[in-house]
Amino acid sequence: FPQAFIYDLDGVITDTAEFHFLAWQKIASELDIPIDRHFNEQLKGVGRMDSLNMILKLNPALSELSEKEKQNWASKKNEHYLELVETIDPSHILPGILELLSANKEKNIKIALGSASKNARHILGKLGLTAYFDYIVDAEKVKKGKPDPETFIVAADALRLSCSDCIGIEDSTAGVEAINAANMFSVGVGDAAHLSEADYLVSDTSKLVFEEIIERYQQANA
Ligand code: BG6
Ligand code: MG
Repeated sequence: FPQAFIYDLDGVITDTAEFHFLAWQKIASELDIPIDRHFNEQLKGVGRMDSLNMILKLNPALSELSEKEKQNWASKKNEHYLELVETIDPSHILPGILELLSANKEKNIKIALGSASKNARHILGKLGLTAYFDYIVDAEKVKKGKPDPETFIVAADALRLSCSDCIGIEDSTAGVEAINAANMFSVGVGDAAHLSEADYLVSDTSKLVFEEIIERYQQANA
């Protein structure tokens, strides 16, 4: 039986993945770099500065931006993001998530967050979910972001569990890669086009059914 579920935040617990995209799109268009949803799949799960650098790479003329200018654009992105998330409340928890968290509690399975966001605690608080979490990994706690496995390894270590006893849930390509690299069972939420590496894939959060996830985990570990 697994001992912990480690949840990604943006795009799994709530649809802030969309707000990150909209905020980046605004910044990118100010920089004269059009970005679309297809490109955005590469940004999902990736930290703020790394995301900005990936966007800037699309326009070679902007490769010369100074650190200070980059910091400014990153701050601007975050200001816009914070405006977009201002009205988030518990009604923005995605379908199936509360049921899954409750099932974890009922079965005494630990719950951790594995997020690349500096805003993770702020968002969890707005959703009224902080109390569910035994441990929170956010951008402050890791040196190497996803797809590096550090986020998930730090969470398992803090819970004093081995990675093979944990299940990670992710909506991003980089995140699923990170879970797999940690030798953890990976549950992908979304499209097979981006998440084909997931050990178990569901199309959306309403399909995250506790018993089904456990069954798949046990089959993989049989
Ligand atoms: C991840 C998101 O959770 O956090 C990314 O998937 C985002 O889109 C990253 O860029 C960093 O977030 P923040 O809030 O620190 O800018
Ligand atoms: Mg995500």
